[in-house]
Amino acid sequence: MNEGKTIVRAMCAIGRRGQLGLRGELPWEGDPDPVYAADAARFFEATRGHVLIAGPATRASIPAFAEADREVVEIRSRDVPAEVLARFPGRVVYVCGGPALWASYAPWVQHWDITRLPYDGAADRWFDPAWLTAG
Ligand SMILES: NC(=O)c1ccc[n+]([C@@H]2O[C@H](COP(=O)([O-])OP(=O)(O)OC[C@H]3O[C@@H](n4cnc5c(N)ncnc54)[C@H](OP(=O)(O)O)[C@@H]3O)[C@@H](O)[C@H]2O)c1
Repeated sequence: MNEGKTIVRAMCAIGRRGQLGLRGELPWEGDPDPVYAADAARFFEATRGHVLIAGPATRASIPAFAEADREVVEIRSRDVPAEVLARFPGRVVYVCGGPALWASYAPWVQHWDITRLPYDGAADRWFDPAWLTAG
C-alpha cells in the first residue's frame, strides 16, 4: 500500500560515455542491433500503467500507441517540480527526460533505472552522474 505517496522513478538509456540524445532523437535511432529494440521494449514494459513526465521534445517522441496504457504528461520549465509530483498521489511517476527534467527532478527520484548500451558515437544530450546524488 502506497498511502497516497508519489513514487518517483527516472528511467533512461545511455551510450558508453553517457550519450542520451542526438538531433532530437535517440543517438542509436535506426540501428538494427536488437539490443536497442530490447531496450525500448523494456521501457514500455516498465512504465505500463504509470505516469510519464517529459519535456516537449521527449513527449513528442513518445509514440501514440503508448498513450493507451500509460499517462504521458508534458512538463514545462514554468512548472514547479514539487507541485507537479503532488498531482499524482499514490502513483508511480517516471521522469523521462530530457536532461533539464532529470536535473530538476533528481532530488525527488527514489529509483534510477539506467541501461548502458553499446553505442559509442556522437551526442548532443548527455547523462550527468551528479543527478544521482542531487538534493
Ligand atoms: N536516452 C534516453 O533515455 C532519452 C530519454 C528521453 C529523451 N532523450 C533524448 O533527449 C532529447 C530531448 O531532450 P531535450 O532536452 O532536447 O528536450 P525536452 O525533452 O523538451 O526537455 C527539455 C525541455 O523541458 C522543458 N522543461 C520542463 N521542466 C523543466 C525544468 N524543471 N527545468 C528546465 N526545463 C524544463 C524545457 O522547455 P520549456 O522551457 O519550453 O518549458 C526544456 O527546454 C532527444 O534527443 C531525445 O531523444 C533520450
